[in-house]
Parts: sequence; C-alpha cells; structure tokens
Amino acid sequence: MALEWLVIFLSCFAQLSAAFFNNTHPRDLELENRLLRVLLRFNLEEEFNTLLVYGEECVFHSLLRHLRVPTVIAASGSTNYNWSFSTSTLILTCESNAENEENSYTLLKLQRTRRLIYLQNTIPPESICRKYSLKEQHNIAMVKSNFVQSDIIYSCRFFQTPNFEEILFFEDQPVYIENFKNMHGSAIKTVPDLLVPRTMVYKDKKTGETKMRGYLANMMNTYVQKLNASLQFINITELGVKKASVIDIMNWARQDLLDIGTALSSSMQFKGTDEVWYPYLLTGYCLMVPVPAKLPYNQVYSMIVDPVVLSIIFVMLCVFSILIIYTQNLSWRNLTLANVLLNDKSLRGLLGQSFPFPPNPSKHLKLIIFVLCFASVMITTMYEAYLQSYFTRPPSEPYIHAFRDIGNFSQKMAISRMEVNVLTTLNNSHFREISEDHLLIYEDWSEYLVLRDSFNTSFIFPVSVDRWSAYEEQQKFFAEPAFYLATDLCFNQLMLFSPPMRRFLPHRHLFEEHMMRQQEFGMVALWKSRSFSVMVELGLASMKDLSHMKTIEESLLLDDVSWILKLYLGAMALSICCFLLEISRCGERWSRFWRRRR
Ligand SMILES: *[C@@H]1O[C@H](CO)[C@@H](O)[C@H](O)[C@H]1NC(C)=O
Ligand SMILES: *[C@@H]1O[C@H](CO)[C@@H](O)[C@H](O)[C@H]1NC(C)=O
Ligand SMILES: *[C@@H]1O[C@H](CO)[C@@H](O)[C@H](O)[C@H]1NC(C)=O
Ligand SMILES: *[C@@H]1O[C@H](CO)[C@@H](O)[C@H](O)[C@H]1NC(C)=O
Ligand SMILES: *[C@@H]1O[C@H](CO)[C@@H](O)[C@H](O)[C@H]1NC(C)=O
Ligand SMILES: *[C@@H]1O[C@H](CO)[C@@H](O)[C@H](O)[C@H]1NC(C)=O
Ligand SMILES: *[C@@H]1O[C@H](CO)[C@@H](O)[C@H](O)[C@H]1NC(C)=O
Repeated sequence: MALEWLVIFLSCFAQLSAAFFNNTHPRDLELENRLLRVLLRFNLEEEFNTLLVYGEECVFHSLLRHLRVPTVIAASGSTNYNWSFSTSTLILTCESNAENEENSYTLLKLQRTRRLIYLQNTIPPESICRKYSLKEQHNIAMVKSNFVQSDIIYSCRFFQTPNFEEILFFEDQPVYIENFKNMHGSAIKTVPDLLVPRTMVYKDKKTGETKMRGYLANMMNTYVQKLNASLQFINITELGVKKASVIDIMNWARQDLLDIGTALSSSMQFKGTDEVWYPYLLTGYCLMVPVPAKLPYNQVYSMIVDPVVLSIIFVMLCVFSILIIYTQNLSWRNLTLANVLLNDKSLRGLLGQSFPFPPNPSKHLKLIIFVLCFASVMITTMYEAYLQSYFTRPPSEPYIHAFRDIGNFSQKMAISRMEVNVLTTLNNSHFREISEDHLLIYEDWSEYLVLRDSFNTSFIFPVSVDRWSAYEEQQKFFAEPAFYLATDLCFNQLMLFSPPMRRFLPHRHLFEEHMMRQQEFGMVALWKSRSFSVMVELGLASMKDLSHMKTIEESLLLDDVSWILKLYLGAMALSICCFLLEISRCGERWSRFWRRRR
C-alpha cells in the first residue's frame, strides 16, 4: 500500500517538476536553437539520416525532439552490438570523454563519421583532437557551452599546428574537411612484394633513393603524389624477413605495421578472413604449359597412315574387285579369294596406276571403272596433300586438356608451397585431380619464381592471366613460343586481387577512389602494356631467346624414310623369290609329286 502511494507521489512530483522545468532558461533555448541550425547546416553539407548520441542527458537530447531523424542513444558510451544502421550518420557526443566505443566493428563502420562534441568543462580542444586522432577518427568538431556568445566551432585539423581551427558559425567556412587530401609530406608506410612486373624496386642512380615501378607500384606512387605524402618502405630485415611474400605483407597489415602493401592478395587468400579489400585486378589463375614439341619428320609418314583410313581403302578394294569380276561376265564364276584380293584392275586403279581396259566393256563396267578412277584421284590427292602440309608444318604432340591427364605427360607441375597451401585449404577440385607424384613443390617462393622466369619447359607452372601477358610479351622475342596459356586448365577463372590495407586506415576511401580512377582512365592498362619494356629497362628481363628450341632437322633425310625403303626391299626380295619359284616351275613339280603319291 505504501509503495503504491510512493509511486503516485513520485509520478505527480515528476509531472510537476517537468512543468516547472519545462519553462527552461531562455539561454538554453537559444543554445538549442543555435545547435539546431548547426545540425541543419551539417545536413545540407552532407546528408545524414541517423543520429548516434553518446553520453548521459545533455543539450543534444533535448534537440532530438525537433529533429525527426532516427536516433540511437548509447548512454553508456559504447554500442554492444555491431553497427548495422545507416553509415550516413552524425555522432553527437555529450562530453569530451563520453564516447568510449569498444566494438571494433562499429568503430570501423563509423570511423569517418562526422562527430560533434559538446564541451561542458574546460578541456582544451587541442587535447581532444589529439585523443581522437590517436583513435584515428578525424572528423571532429566541438562546441563549448558558451557557443551562443562566442559563435565558435572548434574543428580538428590533423596535419596542422595547432591541430584545430576556430570556425565562426556565421562565416561561411567548412567545418569538416578531408584531412588526408593534403598530408603535407607525412609518410605512408608500405612493403613491396617484388612480384615482377607489378612491382619492381630499384635504386635511383642519381639520388640513391629506393623507388619502384610497375603497374601496381605506379598506382601507389601516384597515390602518394596525389595526397602530397611520402612513401616509406618498411625495413623488412628488421622484421626478420629477407624477401616479403604476400602472406607476410597481409600479416603485417593485420598487425598495423604498414598502411598499404604494394602487393596483391588474391580473393582465394583472404577468403575466410573478415577483411575484404577493394579489388584492383580481376584475373584468372590458370596453367602455363610448354608448347608440345613438333613431331619429328621421320614420323610424319607413319602418322598419316591411319588404320581407319587404311581399312576403308581395303574395303573399297574388295568392293571394286567383286564388282569388276561380276560385271565382266555377269556371273560369279571367277569369284575366288585370290581374284578379289589381288585383283589387277582394282588394285592398280586405286593406286592411281594405269591398268588394262577390258575390250568391249558393257555400260555397267564403264560406270564402275569411272567410279574407280574417281576414287583413285581422291585417295592419291588426299595423301599428297596430307604429306606435303605435314612436311612443311609437322603436327604437334598431344595437348593437355584436363587436370586429370597431367599424369600422362612427362612434365611435372612446379608450384610454390604457398600456393599449395591456399589451394588445399580451399579444397580446390581441380587441384585434387593432380596426383602428388606430378607436383614439384618449392618451399622457397622466390626460387620458384626464378624457375618460372627461366621458361624451363620441363615444367608446367600455375600463373595468373595477368602475369601471363608479360610472359607473352617476352615470348615475342623467341623464335618459337615456349609456353602457352591453357585456358581450359584454370584453377579459378575469376579472381579478385586487392592490395592489403591496415584495418583502420583513415584514408581508405581515398585510396579506393584512386584505384577506381586509375582503372577508369585506362592508366592501369597502359602501365600493363609497358610492363615488359620497363622490366628490360631495369634489367629484370632480357630480350634474349630463352625458348631452348631443340634444333629441328632442316629437311627430310634419307635416313628418315629408311624404314620405308627397307620395307620396299623386303617386298622386292619376296617377289623375286616368288618369281624364281615360278620360273623353276616349282608348283607344277609339286603337283606332279602329289599326283604320283596318290
Ligand atoms: C513544454 O513546453 C512545450 C512548449 O514550450 C509544450 O509543447 C510541452 O507540452 C511542455 N511540456 C510539458 C510536460 O508541459
Ligand atoms: C560482430 O561482427 C563480428 C564479425 O563480423 C562477429 O564476430 C561478432 O560476433 C559480431 N558481434 C555481434 C554482437 O553481433
Ligand atoms: C606538400 O607538402 C609539403 C611538405 O612536405 C609542403 O611544403 C607543400 O606546401 C605541400 N604542397 C601543397 C600543394 O600543399
Ligand atoms: C634495415 O635494418 C638492418 C638491420 O637493422 C640494417 O642493417 C639495414 O641497413 C637496414 N636497411 C635500411 C635500408 O635501412
Ligand atoms: C591418361 O591416362 C589415363 C589412365 O592412365 C587414361 O584413362 C586417359 O585416357 C589418358 N589420357 C590421355 C589424354 O592420354
Ligand atoms: C573436399 O571436397 C570433396 C568433394 O567436393 C569432399 O569429399 C572432401 O571431403 C572435401 N575435403 C575437405 C578437407 O573438405
Ligand atoms: C630445367 O630444370 C631442370 C630441373 O631443375 C634441369 O635439370 C634442366 O636442365 C632445366 N632445363 C633448362 C633448359 O634449363
């Protein structure tokens, strides 16, 4: 009972006090009005559709009534859920220390959001700006409680001393600026991965400075120029690494040791992590396979003697023999096996030789012989064409068409341990089809690259289509291309490659926009097309012919067709034997011998 009374009393008191205090001080009302105008101006400059208010009750809370904008109030100073509302948000903070966001996901999403802080105590704006810049939040403005009289908005400026600016509200000055548009020579830390032709590091001969070229490096160089920053290469020997690989660079980016890596990590590598970077390159991941050797000349002849074609010719021979035998007398009297197989007319006719034309042939016989002559012309010209074209351009040994078949070929696939790890963690179905025996895994990644650059045709190499274009350019200096890109042998047809970045990089949006522009204006395509000449300029590639062509015999030698001659000799010997036997009337004697015995 007493409790009920207490509640009723309290609620009455609350209403009364609200009525009493509703008659707020005119100065507070004025402040509210002024702040309202500030917010409306912010909304005009860059629209916001959500408000996030940090801290306990302050002047901002009473403002909210007048602003019909969805609002999230975090009185404790931190959101304990991942920020899943709009990112066009304005953050209002009631006190200099009211905001202590701990959710890193929210921090990342609202990193660039504009913040307005209401200062009730006398903390200097300088230290507040410093505090926020340590948290890598740079869009900060502050108003003091005497805002109505002073009309000053304090806005942080990261690359200036003092690190804030006093802005008079009624003078038309921007409150929030893009701090990183001009970094005044500050360093952007990077590590190049030295993957030719994307990144080629060299020492400038005149100044001794370390510089880099290549289509990825150029993108970084132009970015640094655009922001008026400077490029700082991290000393990786201090980190205990001789040559940085993409994995190292990704790890250092994760540990905030660098800002932007001059490297490209593939979508296969960052699958599974919660970082996703904006892609710079879209390309496939395929195999480069040695161009199969040409068939030697001495095998060309046997190559064109196809069993199927031979059997068709044989069937034709039999059919013509039977037809000729029948039509000569219109009877089957002469039909014997010897007459069919060794038919003088059809055999010679099919081989394009002249043969005795039977006297007074019938119409049917004429027709058959006409067809026979036609067949002979077809066969002889076909073989002639075959033989001549193969002699001018010998056919190749078989191409690889499936991952499964790699085992049937003598070449092994050379691959680096890093790629194997990525492919096995992704459970790549194509990679599983290649057996262990046909892999040559290089633990040292740079050793593997040296091998690949040497165009050693004993191996098959995985390559990104993008890197392939530089190899293709280089192969133009070869007598014959050593490798070809097997577009039907791809681990992945489309991969995204992105430069690794620190998670809380404050100018990430500028970098992404820069990448997009370079692509859009065709700069990347231009740099790529010049890659090979830059490589030659820096001594990383040569215009030498690395194709290691086997010396092909200039022409067909007698030796190459010796087996045909031997066959011919054998056949001649056989027929001479037959001839001798016939001369000696061996057959007659033999039959007489038989008759006598009977
Ligand atoms: C406070 O005053 C406003 C107008 O100034 C009025 O609309 C509102 O109803 C008042 N609130 C209370 C609780 O009396
Ligand atoms: C926030 O997102 C991260 C990663 O996306 C996730 O691991 C975490 O569980 C989420 N937290 C909440 C409270 O949803
Ligand atoms: C670029 O930065 C340098 C300081 O390194 C500064 O002197 C120069 O004025 C800046 N350039 C521009 C256009 O602001
Ligand atoms: C990098 O660090 C190592 C060891 O601290 C040092 O010997 C080397 O000179 C440094 N390299 C550069 C380019 O500063
Ligand atoms: C490769 O070898 C397998 C069995 O060893 C066979 O089934 C397959 O047809 C061969 N492929 C080629 C292209 O020779
Ligand atoms: C890989 O994929 C195959 C079939 O797609 C499946 O049978 C196998 O269990 C997978 N292996 C792993 C380690 O996930
Ligand atoms: C290719 O590599 C193999 C093994 O490393 C080596 O034996 C061979 O000599 C190389 N071939 C050429 C042409 O360099």
